[in-house]
Amino acid sequence: MRSHYCGLLRDSDIGQDVDLFGWVHRRRDHGGVIFLDVRDHQGIIQVVFDPDTQESFKLADQVRNEYVLHITGKVRARDDEAVNPKMPTGELEVLGKELTILNAADPPPFQLDEYSSAGEDVRLRYRYLDLRRPEMQEKLRVRSQVVHEVRRFLEANDFVDMETPILTRATPEGARDYLVPSRTQPGNFFALPQSPQLFKQLLMMSGFDRYYQIARCFRDEDLRADRQPEFTQIDIETSFLGEQEIMDISEQLIRQLFQSTIDVDLGELPHISYACAMQRYGSDRPDLRFDLPLVDIADLLKDVEFKVFSGPANDPGSRVAALKLERGDRLSRRNIDDYTKYVSIYGARGLAYIRVNNLSEGMEGLQSPILKFLPDEVVSAILDRVDAKDNDIIFFGADRISVVNDALGALRGKLAEDLDLYQRDWAACWVTDFPMFESTDDGGWTAIHHPFTAPSCDSESMEAGPGQALSRAYDIVINGHEVGGGSIRIHESALQQAVFRVLKLSDNEVATKFGFLLDALKYGAPPHGGIAIGLDRLIMLLTGATAIRDVIAFPKTQTATCLLTDAPGSVDSDQLHELGILVKKPETE
Ligand code: AMO
Ligand code: AMP
Repeated sequence: MRSHYCGLLRDSDIGQDVDLFGWVHRRRDHGGVIFLDVRDHQGIIQVVFDPDTQESFKLADQVRNEYVLHITGKVRARDDEAVNPKMPTGELEVLGKELTILNAADPPPFQLDEYSSAGEDVRLRYRYLDLRRPEMQEKLRVRSQVVHEVRRFLEANDFVDMETPILTRATPEGARDYLVPSRTQPGNFFALPQSPQLFKQLLMMSGFDRYYQIARCFRDEDLRADRQPEFTQIDIETSFLGEQEIMDISEQLIRQLFQSTIDVDLGELPHISYACAMQRYGSDRPDLRFDLPLVDIADLLKDVEFKVFSGPANDPGSRVAALKLERGDRLSRRNIDDYTKYVSIYGARGLAYIRVNNLSEGMEGLQSPILKFLPDEVVSAILDRVDAKDNDIIFFGADRISVVNDALGALRGKLAEDLDLYQRDWAACWVTDFPMFESTDDGGWTAIHHPFTAPSCDSESMEAGPGQALSRAYDIVINGHEVGGGSIRIHESALQQAVFRVLKLSDNEVATKFGFLLDALKYGAPPHGGIAIGLDRLIMLLTGATAIRDVIAFPKTQTATCLLTDAPGSVDSDQLHELGILVKKPETE
């Protein structure tokens, strides 16, 4: 029987006989005495074997890193000069008496220290070893605690935990579906849920009033540091509550989690409209730890000869904006070239700038590749508009609205990161009043949130001008990450059908994909709404991780594969035959 955890031994245990179980973290041989650092999930204790205990000493000599041991011994104080103040057990050691090797271990492919220099591919291939590192253990334990607290909070607020199907029909959330072939109906497929959206709405129609689920979602989309093909949502739905009440409950939950996990008071979350966020920050998930706003200047540039600016300035689908960085003299020519390359990722065709060296010298005190194209009074008006001071640098973006927003919005974040412009550690907000739809390349419309979100206008105005219609959706954003999103839903069949009409879904498509929803809306559907909080992103922020991969025990790579199990893998032809599937192999050159 284990008597103590290695990492929890303290001064008060001195003199105790102990039974320890754990892994060899490190083994050192010091002139006839063997030191084993023995690790369990609570930490590390030093165990000493001297030649007096002959048999154990011999075994201790044989063990290597990551061997699994059972040790009995006596806790004692270390000699003064051997005390290690960096370890919680650094004043103690265990004098080993008996040692049993429970299992041997091959040399691990990388050192299991706090900091691992091993490449991520190797760490993912040997994830079970990577997870032995205290740093990784800590993050996943925080995750477990947070989930526990979420459940406690929601249950105290009368939410009911309900499971919804994993084998289901497509739920549109804007990504591709993962499909599962049906054996009993060859040629037909289940889709894994992109979210439990429709089922949670149906539960409201069943009268459950308040639902929650720690729900796994599946989306086949381009992956990034904060996106995985399968991820977890804290999924919530309520009946008879308005958007303010749903935001209040979610805000209370998030603030409580920040307080209890990292002792941070997020404060009351400000509300920013989508339009304001896009205009001021070029993003619908603005990082408010710093300001650095985009400033519109199109009105000043309509008549200049410089086509790069006057073209977009006269086009309603375009934008010309300035971004002023104080103390721009920190940036070298080389830095500016790098930022020009950086914004090109977002489609920007250049990054014009003006360096303000000395305002008192007028135009002579400015330095810029575009001055020669702009009349002096226009330049002065721009400097006034952004309130330029000596040593500032002003960047410009002129292009289609989305390109300017993406490019300058990203540049804003990059400058803050590179120059540490943060004025606070945490900044959270609600983004509200999203548009209902955005236009697609083929001239149609697609739902910005999902097609079940209610518009804030009536059905007629929505159909008359889908581009102007706003929705009753809201996102919660923390430090520039979209941590959650939700909306008030449509609870009337006619309005739901109007949205499907805007989306140009054929009657047949509506009937096969969403017939069950339209039916359900006819039998007394209550007004309802909800939200889903991305658990992985939340834990990433709470643990200071840089990617959600680090807070998921077994994540996928950027190409959506599992290096540990080598999934996805091929299946044998019998299995395919049974499913009625013929695989067309990708053509190889
Ligand atoms: P949405 O699509 O905004 O809304 O998702 C909600 C939250 O889930 C997280 N998230 C992800 N996390 C990791 N990897 C991904 N690929 C990923 N995609 C989304 C984000 C996001 O804010 N059914 C609606 C919610 C609702 O309306 O109630 C939905 O799924 O943190
Ligand atoms: P050009 O006339 O193309 O040499 O551009 C002159 C300056 O304007 C250069 O500094 C370019 O980086 C910049 N520039 C070009 N196109 C754009 C654009 N669409 N938005 C902002 N700056 C641009």
